[in-house]
Amino acid sequence: EYVWLKNHILPKSDAYVHFDDRGYYFGDGIYEVIRIYNHQPFLLDAHMERFARSAHELDMPLPYSLSSIKDKTKELITKNDINNGYVYIQMTRGEQPRDHLYSRDITPVMTGFTKKREDGSTQKEGISLWTTKDIRWLRCDIKTINLLGNVMAKRQAEDHACQEALLHRDGIVTEGSSSNIFMVKRGVLYTHPANHYILNGITRQYTIAQAKQLDICVNETAFSLEQLQEADEVFATSTSLEVTPVHQIKGDIDMKIKTGPVTEQLQQGFSFSC
Ligand code: PDD
Repeated sequence: EYVWLKNHILPKSDAYVHFDDRGYYFGDGIYEVIRIYNHQPFLLDAHMERFARSAHELDMPLPYSLSSIKDKTKELITKNDINNGYVYIQMTRGEQPRDHLYSRDITPVMTGFTKKREDGSTQKEGISLWTTKDIRWLRCDIKTINLLGNVMAKRQAEDHACQEALLHRDGIVTEGSSSNIFMVKRGVLYTHPANHYILNGITRQYTIAQAKQLDICVNETAFSLEQLQEADEVFATSTSLEVTPVHQIKGDIDMKIKTGPVTEQLQQGFSFSC
């Protein structure tokens, strides 16, 4: 198994990161998770654009051009011969003795790995959600590796036998711990607008575009837990979940839902054979 570290693609057993990497001290870094179908990274350009945006918002320079980052990503996929899976890429601000004040003279450190996935493409089985308070900072639009609010929520969900957490701020649904949340009511699709409260998922954007092509009305308006209780369909989107129906929601509210026709239509957008 090969990994990407700085300028090199090397065996994982030979890859070591520096003790003073700011990623360890401060979670001072950004990342992307990109799906691979048929040996190809899916929606790579959109992921790269978001990566560059995250870097810009955090005042991190890119150590290489976006096109060379793309090339390295593809090289890693080829080297590990991944047909169906994921590629993870990360960039920390760099190596510096611990200091809250970051230097602008350090070089960001890029790392990456791939992961195989055995099963087919679209998630058919539904998942259950556990509602929990969204306690994260106010720049959830940046894809940072600083994910404590997300990981604490995910653990809580699992401890209540749910696969994903449903985050809300004062009763307004924001997103999942690692996914975006949609609901369907009378044929209209609702999801939280892409602002500082959520990560604008690449799968979210793809799903919205698909919906518009299918003449499904899309309303990027936040909804409350109360409104969610009236939903006809609920689903989650992410690079790994694609479009996955939600069958149950527990916690502050208690509901069971069936997979509906809009969800099924949008799942068609992920029928890749691997
Ligand atoms: N998570 N919201 C959050 C908080 C996320 O962490 C993610 C992705 C998404 C969906 O984004 P996308 O469609 O671009 O994957 C929404 C990734 C998969 C992860 O952390 O593993």
